[in-house]
Amino acid sequence: MIHSQPAASATRILAGLLETRTGQQIAPSRYWRIQTALAPLLKQYAIPDLDALVAVLSDPDNEPLLQESLEAMLNNESFFFRDTALFATLRSEAFPMLRERRAQRKTLRVWCAGSSTGQEAYSIAMLFDTEREKWAGWSIEIVGTDISTSVVERARAGRYSQFEIQRGLSVDYMLRYFAQDGEDWVIDPAIQKMVRFEQENILKPRSDLGRFDIVLCRNVLMYFGPETRAIAYAKLERSLEDDGLLMLGAAESVLGQTDQFSATREMRGLYCKAVPGRTGLSALPAPFA
Ligand SMILES: C[S@@+](CC[C@H](N)C(=O)[O-])C[C@H]1O[C@@H](n2cnc3c(N)ncnc32)[C@H](O)[C@@H]1O
Repeated sequence: MIHSQPAASATRILAGLLETRTGQQIAPSRYWRIQTALAPLLKQYAIPDLDALVAVLSDPDNEPLLQESLEAMLNNESFFFRDTALFATLRSEAFPMLRERRAQRKTLRVWCAGSSTGQEAYSIAMLFDTEREKWAGWSIEIVGTDISTSVVERARAGRYSQFEIQRGLSVDYMLRYFAQDGEDWVIDPAIQKMVRFEQENILKPRSDLGRFDIVLCRNVLMYFGPETRAIAYAKLERSLEDDGLLMLGAAESVLGQTDQFSATREMRGLYCKAVPGRTGLSALPAPFA
């Protein structure tokens, strides 16, 4: 239950709600972002200011508006092949290793946690497609999840503006994997079919997604406080095969954040489950063990 507060506290209350529900922290020095992010919503619902919004949100019947407000405050920044070097490592190092290790069962499962508008998951799908002859006969499953229903819907649609399509995609990929539709660019249905998007809060337990060979959780945990980060890392650890690989954002690292994962060293920017006394890829169980 939220109580009406004096003017200066509205942003603090909204930041508190965001952190409680999603884990995402906004530093007081960046509270100005809250006003900017919520301005369109205030206009849409003819709510005069943030104080009035907080008052409206104090009514439990307005839960849908609270959801909408929180989604508006989330940072959904994403683009195709963000951190190209990491995607190159995935293709040249991680894929061959997993192809060898999974040669018998010929299945590979990839999870993008915090997949935003879908660029990351579709980048992975395009990566597989560019070497599809090597993956012939394999079942490749890519799942993208995000707490925000609006970005999950956008990801499913696979429709991008001219601005979005130009971010991270080469002209070659753009023409090969997208079709122009008016002002927008729409993902190739074959690539779209490789990816499934679902709404999920990384901080909540889950039952049915199973374990993955590669987990990407990029530019999500950096906005969490230590306690929520620990909850998220525990879920990532449970969701990863024992010899699976974790990929964080280029500016992120597990160092000082968790002892559940360690750097692979051999594959820069990729992490594996930590095994006491063993580091790097030697921490991975033997293939077919
Ligand atoms: C900055 S975007 C990063 C998108 C993509 N991973 C990338 O690196 O380009 C962070 C995403 O994490 C999502 N997110 C934030 N908190 C979350 C949570 N508790 N559970 C699931 N997703 C969350 C946000 O909605 C947002 O779409």
